[in-house]
Amino acid sequence: MNIILVGFMGTGKTVAGKRLAKRLKMEFIDLDDRIEEKEGRTISRIFKEDGEAYFRRIEKEAVKGIMVIKDSVVATGGGVVMDDENMVNLKKIGTVISLVASPDVILKRTSLETHRPLLNNAEPKKRIEELLKCREPFYKKADYSIDTSYLSIDEVVEEILKKLKLDV
Ligand code: S3P
Repeated sequence: MNIILVGFMGTGKTVAGKRLAKRLKMEFIDLDDRIEEKEGRTISRIFKEDGEAYFRRIEKEAVKGIMVIKDSVVATGGGVVMDDENMVNLKKIGTVISLVASPDVILKRTSLETHRPLLNNAEPKKRIEELLKCREPFYKKADYSIDTSYLSIDEVVEEILKKLKLDV
């Protein structure tokens, strides 16, 4: 079985995913890392040099590339859910869990980092709110949802285990 984490930037997919994988002795896969490895450049550079549409195309290929995985925890990029085929494919290989957080918490968690091209913006809070509003219906398609705003990483892991009825 695979566990797929989706959700907006800064909701904790990568950190919680890594810890969950360790706890369950499963493989951890970060979809953005796979894209960067394949392209030999960072996500920021991909956006800058070839634009978002190109990134979405290779992101879709990256989803297709993980259709064969087993016993893995996957952290996806925040926008992967906007493509219906991606969501269908992700649901085929595992249980999809959406991590959510409030705009203020997302702003706080992402403000110290510069590697997210979509938030490198003069008004990041406004941008976060706009993007969240348009993506909300897509994140809702996940099998389960967990609000990580006021949870520690270990608590997020516990919540995921509870949802999946995994007793470890
Ligand atoms: C994106 C989120 C990023 C990365 C890219 C686009 C998005 O991943 O895939 O910058 O559209 O929300 P994280 O959610 O891991 O930051």
